[in-house]
Amino acid sequence: MIETVRPASGLKGTIELPADKSISHRSALFAALSDQKSTILNYSPAADPASTLSCLRQLGVEVNRNDNRVTVHGAGRTGLQQPAEPLDCGNSGTTMRLLTGIVAGAGLDAELTGDDSLRGRTMKRIIDPLRSMGANISARDGEYAPLRVGTHNGIKPIRFPLPIPSAQLKSCVLLAGLFGKSPTEVVEQIPSRDHTERLLNLETEEYGQGKIIQSSLQDVIPPQNYTVPGDFSAAAFWLVGAAVQQGSMIHLKNVGMNPSRTGILHILYQMGADINISNERMQGREPVADMAVSASSLKAIDLDPALIPNCIDELPILMVAFCFADGRSTITGAGELRHKETDRLAAMYEILTNAGADATLREDGIEINGDPGFTPEPAEHNTYHDHRMAMAAAILSSCSAEPSVVLDAECTSISYPGFWADLEKVSVY
Ligand code: S3P
Repeated sequence: MIETVRPASGLKGTIELPADKSISHRSALFAALSDQKSTILNYSPAADPASTLSCLRQLGVEVNRNDNRVTVHGAGRTGLQQPAEPLDCGNSGTTMRLLTGIVAGAGLDAELTGDDSLRGRTMKRIIDPLRSMGANISARDGEYAPLRVGTHNGIKPIRFPLPIPSAQLKSCVLLAGLFGKSPTEVVEQIPSRDHTERLLNLETEEYGQGKIIQSSLQDVIPPQNYTVPGDFSAAAFWLVGAAVQQGSMIHLKNVGMNPSRTGILHILYQMGADINISNERMQGREPVADMAVSASSLKAIDLDPALIPNCIDELPILMVAFCFADGRSTITGAGELRHKETDRLAAMYEILTNAGADATLREDGIEINGDPGFTPEPAEHNTYHDHRMAMAAAILSSCSAEPSVVLDAECTSISYPGFWADLEKVSVY
């Protein structure tokens, strides 16, 4: 599908965000491991969390879905069944990495696979610690899916200092740790999203500047009965879209405000964005709030690399904001972007420069000379089947003076199926 993005004179209105993708995955996975029934409300309508549900069904878990209400009859740690067919994780790295932790922990015989993009992403980061826990796991060329997981003689607990600030890796090891008689400890120095430890209520203690999180068979897995908050990562497209376009005013309701996710908010504040937060409250174990953002004068910044894990998925749309900020902005220490659904540094560089932005690509980042008067040139944007590339290209294109084209536009359904309808709804022509 090709989308033509018409130039807008501003973005105005209220957006109902899709439910958080990271929390949706976890709600279903943890509900399956619980001994009880869970009812999850506002489960994400997107394709990635649907992959998690279909994999759980393949593992014999009874999952009923009625629109965005999902009921999971927990199978407990011992109730998962050997899947007859390979578990298809689709495009979803979170499904593959978290589910491998569970399947390996449980010692099930299973194969995990995914689409071309997912089969091209390294799984070595999870294979190494899982093997040291006694899991039996092999991979294509030693690091790529399909992954083959087999039976073993029990999970050995490990103490695992996280070598990279990855919540998928942290969660994978903790989930396998849930099957060990004594605690597995994950030592996290640079904070990454903490939904797993929150929603599983895992024991966490401070350790230097970071923390240690533990999991073992002793942990009682709570049922997951709550309403999933709106996806902050989806909100980020509107925060930037409204901030950079004159005459804009966007309201966002029920946005997940987990501090381990909201890095871009603080960066946008630092750049001078006009964002108002109201109605802050807790929804289950996660904080939520409403937000309003209006057109702002932005100034350039050098992004503090320490903030990157808290805005890793928002870096593409942040690069769009940099194009409209006064002065030179830089991102360094973001090499992880090259290992996402596509090489997001290379893809964003292509999108931005095709639109006439003044950008220089670095091995682990990008430099952008922004201009508050920047008018993107019309372009035909490749998205490399990456939802966040498509949405970043769309927001950029709506600031142009002429229509642009976004190729493979349906890939937004990986995280935000209603994106194109929402863009149409809030665009003022
Ligand atoms: C996610 C963690 C991040 C993020 C991804 C979702 C999660 O990946 O980019 O979209 O739900 O745990 P990494 O763990 O690779 O940083």
